[in-house]
Amino acid sequence: MPAPQVDLPASGRADFGGRPLLASHDLHENELFSDAALVELLDSYPREHLYALTMGSDPGRTDGNQLALHDGVSGADLLRAVRSGRLWLNITGVDRVDARYRTLIDELYVQLVAQATRFAPLERHGTLLISSPDVLVYYHADAPASVLWHIRGRKRLRVYPALDERYVRHELLEDIFAGVSHEYLPYEPAYDQAAVVYDLVPGQWATWPQNAPHQVDNLDSVNVSLVTEHVTRESRRRAQLYRANRFLRLRLGLRNLSRRESGPMAIAKTAFHRLARRAGLDPVQLKQHVASLRVDPDAPGGVVALDPGRGAAGVVR
Ligand SMILES: [Fe+2]
Repeated sequence: MPAPQVDLPASGRADFGGRPLLASHDLHENELFSDAALVELLDSYPREHLYALTMGSDPGRTDGNQLALHDGVSGADLLRAVRSGRLWLNITGVDRVDARYRTLIDELYVQLVAQATRFAPLERHGTLLISSPDVLVYYHADAPASVLWHIRGRKRLRVYPALDERYVRHELLEDIFAGVSHEYLPYEPAYDQAAVVYDLVPGQWATWPQNAPHQVDNLDSVNVSLVTEHVTRESRRRAQLYRANRFLRLRLGLRNLSRRESGPMAIAKTAFHRLARRAGLDPVQLKQHVASLRVDPDAPGGVVALDPGRGAAGVVR
């Protein structure tokens, strides 16, 4: 299979990851994302790494987001449920499970590194997303830095200013870095005035500053996208700093701590937090979703309610 082609415009090379960016690729021509390949992947995928979630249509109501069980549902039926329902399949760790996707993601990053100056990822991982027409992904921020490689269907991506208290409170970001909160954030329609909006078609990719809140609306078609997340020295330092600040705020009552990510104070705080964690002083309860539904391609919306008592908890990554 030929290496994927990634275009990074000259205007985005010096500050890759510093601002929202839209560019092109050719993954939409790759057989790994055909229906046949997706069915085969879903049939063989370790199901504990595959999450099916319903999605609502009101950006202010995240309770439309419910986890659905899918054991025993074939890959073809999962795709059928996505086509007719309001579902989102998160195929997590696709690079760890399948060497073909790992190779592909490695090749994408070789091309990004070759074109972006000062971009030096230490790690990268991928999640494949398959989602229904007209569903949305609520306003949220992710802890890692991400790239959205859009492959099939059309979707509208809105990206909001990063690290700006008007759009995400720093304490909420600390919880996201600590893994104790899912990433959804309080949303006001007025925020949209500050958003950069991209209507993505197959063959486009987008990236944005780490932690910038964003929201996605699928348009009229089934969507297939690959999301890659990467770690750099800078992103790792930010994660350590925000987790340290959270610990110092909750355990020692220290407020208004500096968010400077470098310098002696940042080093001291993160070193102190590391010691405290090793001593067991910062136990973290990961946020869990409890399944209340089951995927059924013949049911309206692609899901049916679970019998009471059949719920199963899972950490959605
Ligand atoms: Fe996201």
